[in-house]
Amino acid sequence: MPAGRNSPDDETPRHRFYGRRVGRKLRPAQQRMIDEFLPRLSVDPDTDFSDPAALFDVPVSAVWMEIGFGAGEHLEAQARANPGIGFIGCEPYINGVASLLSRIEDAPPKNLRLHMGDARYIIDALPDGSLDRLFVLFPDPWPKTRQNKRRIFSIETLPHFARVLAPGAELRAATDEMSYAAWMLEHARAVPELTWRARAPGDWRQPPGDWVPTRYEQKALEAGSRCVYFRFTKN
Ligand SMILES: C[S@@+](CC[C@H](N)C(=O)[O-])C[C@H]1O[C@@H](n2cnc3c(N)ncnc32)[C@H](O)[C@@H]1O
Repeated sequence: MPAGRNSPDDETPRHRFYGRRVGRKLRPAQQRMIDEFLPRLSVDPDTDFSDPAALFDVPVSAVWMEIGFGAGEHLEAQARANPGIGFIGCEPYINGVASLLSRIEDAPPKNLRLHMGDARYIIDALPDGSLDRLFVLFPDPWPKTRQNKRRIFSIETLPHFARVLAPGAELRAATDEMSYAAWMLEHARAVPELTWRARAPGDWRQPPGDWVPTRYEQKALEAGSRCVYFRFTKN
């Protein structure tokens, strides 16, 4: 990974990252994906984001972003289902990025850009009102109280999320950790620019109609956990 603001060595205190960047050693073919294929799709904090729609190989009418795409099943499915939308996916975990790259190598979506690093640097680089949707799906729950400051969905990050969302844009979040669910609601509802869209319990107990299951969600459901789905609108 090139040195820069996605490097673990030079995090600012506000961007301290507590997750895993590396798991099992990559196979040579996966390493080749990272070295040779990823740069063709990459954006980083130094990319010119003044017109995010111009970053893609096809014209796009809006830009959506996913924070923490894991192995990228949701990101890939959304990008393929919405070819007129540009997608930026951010994930620091190299094994997850390699997994996505292996799946899309033969037919990479032209409306997809990736950042192998901390999404908060990309959020900082984006202009106000530049995203029409932001996904934060099953973020690491960090369930112990003393770990709360590690949460990516928090009172520190939410004003930044709100800034990059266009009026009427959606912030979509999900978790299977009920204490995190309560935290998400409490913190998002404290941000004046965001409105929780739920009208009835079904609105948060069931996924939205255009939902694409994520890997983490499927494992949670198989283990008998409940999941909740939140949709907030930028005012
Ligand atoms: C529990 S996993 C869920 C992955 C995927 N969204 C899913 O539902 O299958 C959370 C992911 O968020 C990523 N993550 C954590 N902090 C992040 C950050 N600051 N920027 C981008 N991704 C982050 C982790 O590396 C991890 O892959």
